[in-house]
Amino acid sequence: MSKDKVYIFDTTLRDGEQVPGCKLDTKQKLVIAERLDTLGVDIIEAGFPISSPGDFNSVNEIAKVVKHATVCGLTRSVKKDIEVAAEALKHAKRPRIHTGIGTSDSHIKYKFNSTREKILERAVEAVRYAKTFVDDVEFYAEDAGRTDNEYLARVCEEVIKAGATVLNIPDTTGYCLPEEYGAKMKYLRENVKDIDKAILSCHCHNDLGLATANSISGVINGARQIECTINGIGERAGNTSLEEVVMILKQHPYLNLDTSIDSKLLYDTSLMVSEKMGMLVQPNKAIVGSNAFAHSSGIHQDGVIKKRETYEIIDPKDVGVDHSSIVLTARSGRAALAYRAKNIGYELTKVQLDVVYKQFLQFADRKKEILDKDIHQIIELANVNIESIA
Ligand code: KIV
Ligand code: ZN
Repeated sequence: MSKDKVYIFDTTLRDGEQVPGCKLDTKQKLVIAERLDTLGVDIIEAGFPISSPGDFNSVNEIAKVVKHATVCGLTRSVKKDIEVAAEALKHAKRPRIHTGIGTSDSHIKYKFNSTREKILERAVEAVRYAKTFVDDVEFYAEDAGRTDNEYLARVCEEVIKAGATVLNIPDTTGYCLPEEYGAKMKYLRENVKDIDKAILSCHCHNDLGLATANSISGVINGARQIECTINGIGERAGNTSLEEVVMILKQHPYLNLDTSIDSKLLYDTSLMVSEKMGMLVQPNKAIVGSNAFAHSSGIHQDGVIKKRETYEIIDPKDVGVDHSSIVLTARSGRAALAYRAKNIGYELTKVQLDVVYKQFLQFADRKKEILDKDIHQIIELANVNIESIA
């Protein structure tokens, strides 16, 4: 059975770049945009053109160089924003305007001092106006995660009538539970007239660490676009991480969902974004963290050395990492020590290994990690017959 495509909408250059300290200049943004295009993302959200002349320029330049992906610019439901975004996107092969407004009662009352009816009118007007510039108009219902489902369905229905091609249902505050977010998508699929005329999109924030789980729940329940960033960077605790959703769909084929991402480029892309933004990736980050394929406990190491799949569900090569690593610490066992010693030229007999291992533990209790140069020293100190093991 052929798989359903999930469109990958990358917002590293917009939601990701909002992170304090991560601001990029146009040149840096261009390099990342071209890499995202090669990676296979379907839509690149290049920026928020009205926010500054620099961002306008970045969107404009990105629109000129991107070959395959749709290039998208963010706006509020404000005419001037939409005009400026259209101008910034005018050279794009496939331009998209991403417009929207807050729909939760909290946003309607406190941000806009308005009413549900007036917000609905503004949403429709914004989509209609954006349609006068481009065919592809995505509407976001900001804070949809906390928006009443019945009202949200009305908004979706009206913006579809106005011509919206994609409906973004953001969990702006990262509040939803996966079941709740999935149920929201299901509700919209079942209650919005002509829902098939638009693609439902997941845009989840990670305030409770649930962004990835919510996005996956969204696509299981009928959404067909995920908005995400490289390394999960983004406002506050971040956005859904691109590498995580891509690999979840790849590793769970029975979901029958697929993306166009070339997963072998994930690790390098993560490094590139981390370096350009000056934002370190936490070592235990799924898929791209430096420890993602490192094994340090004796039990795990023994298993991985016998067969990699005993403790790894992803082949590191599939995400562009050369190999798994066996890290030597005081929790490592004999199998790991023998393996690492062999890698640098020592074939230890069982008796030799026992002696060297005792010496190793003394070192390892004093040092966080034992490196190759330490192994040479340990073997020397263990005073086992060097000739027989070289
Ligand atoms: O989180 C959010 O609601 C957003 C919208 C502007 C799409 O980033
Ligand atoms: Zn967001």
